[in-house]
Amino acid sequence: MTILVTGGAGFIGSNFVLDWLAHHNEPVVNLDKLTYAGNLNNLAAVHGDPRHHFVRGDIGDTNLVTRLLHEYQVRAVLNFAAESHVDRSIAGPAAFIDTNVVGTFQLLEAVRSYWSGLAIEVQAGFRFLHVSTDEVYGSLTPDAPAFDEQHCYAPNSPYSASKAASDHLVHAWHHTYGLPVLTTNCSNNYGPFHFPEKLIPLVIHNALAGKPLPIYGDGRQVRDWLYVLDHCSAIRRVLEAGTPGETYNIGGCNEMANIDVVHTVCAILDELRPRPDGVTYAAQVSFVKDRPGHDRRYAIDAGKLERELGWRPQETFQTGICKTVEWFLTHQDWVEDVTSGAYRDWVEKQYADGHPRP
Ligand code: NAD
Ligand code: TYD
Repeated sequence: MTILVTGGAGFIGSNFVLDWLAHHNEPVVNLDKLTYAGNLNNLAAVHGDPRHHFVRGDIGDTNLVTRLLHEYQVRAVLNFAAESHVDRSIAGPAAFIDTNVVGTFQLLEAVRSYWSGLAIEVQAGFRFLHVSTDEVYGSLTPDAPAFDEQHCYAPNSPYSASKAASDHLVHAWHHTYGLPVLTTNCSNNYGPFHFPEKLIPLVIHNALAGKPLPIYGDGRQVRDWLYVLDHCSAIRRVLEAGTPGETYNIGGCNEMANIDVVHTVCAILDELRPRPDGVTYAAQVSFVKDRPGHDRRYAIDAGKLERELGWRPQETFQTGICKTVEWFLTHQDWVEDVTSGAYRDWVEKQYADGHPRP
């Protein structure tokens, strides 16, 4: 038996593939389109490993997905593939609709057709695990309780709206066709292989390059931060023991304002790689115009996952962020590789005049 991972060359998907193969002998077929966010270097550690089969392709390519499902006798599909960056969704939402909505629909249809042809006992054990985000729930006021699985969907950005649409499709394929799906909604991840367009890796990269650390608005927006390998262990646990049709929220119990996150990163860098002039990296902080429609606060109640499946995160923000900064310091070749070419074009456009584009 084999699992099919989509988007396994991206940030979380590649961490998942490495983590899976460190814990299991079951092979992985890794289907990834290799957009700007996909990077085969993330998978260098499993290069030549006979348990890892990489295929470049689109989740919307029904013929390809159907062939892979049959060829590898796939027993579970884990859908990480997505366009994932909110600012890019504001600058150009079309790709988010194509992959997150239409791509997920096409993937579900290919999987449904394969699954309905399986023997009854194999059908019962099959799983389609859809990896989603807490952003589908919208924005919280400062004192509101954290999102639980009953919270209504109220997405605000093109990214979160497209993920919400995909979640609804996944639920409908369970309700209508009986496809055994699992949905996970997770908070903001950070860790190795994080593409430096997102806050934490961008700040590490800019700090070391002597560039401004752009903080949108007042920097008091709150996110819950989860170390990526904790996300991977939660997904493994949900795949293993989750009830089909159910949603599981995943979070780190680490609510922090953006400005505090940035100051924490700066303090670690001050210790591990002090600036030659002895000035703190925090001096590079630069407040810039806010992101349009910027959600103020996300917070996750991961109590269901703990009560029902016994999962808890292993890392605190302090331990996870130290590991992350150390990883970036020792993998500057990886950073240089991903920040050449198209990345520079994005950063130039996005931060022109110090302002995110409206
Ligand atoms: P990412 O942007 O780093 O990686 C996405 C991967 O999907 C890339 O390798 C890309 O090449 C691939 N891809 C894109 N379109 C594809 C298509 N049509 N067919 C096949 N492959 C395609 O994203 P990430 O941060 O690793 O996020 C992975 C998943 O987790 C996404 O579904 C995202 O919504 C979800 N998520 C992310 C976070 C976070 O903090 N990054 C938090 C919660 C949930
Ligand atoms: P990001 O990493 O893009 O994740 P998301 O938008 O999915 O939460 O952003 C995290 C937070 O950091 C978010 O509130 C926006 C903010 N942010 C900045 O202040 N400056 C930046 O340059 C970036 C990329 C994000």
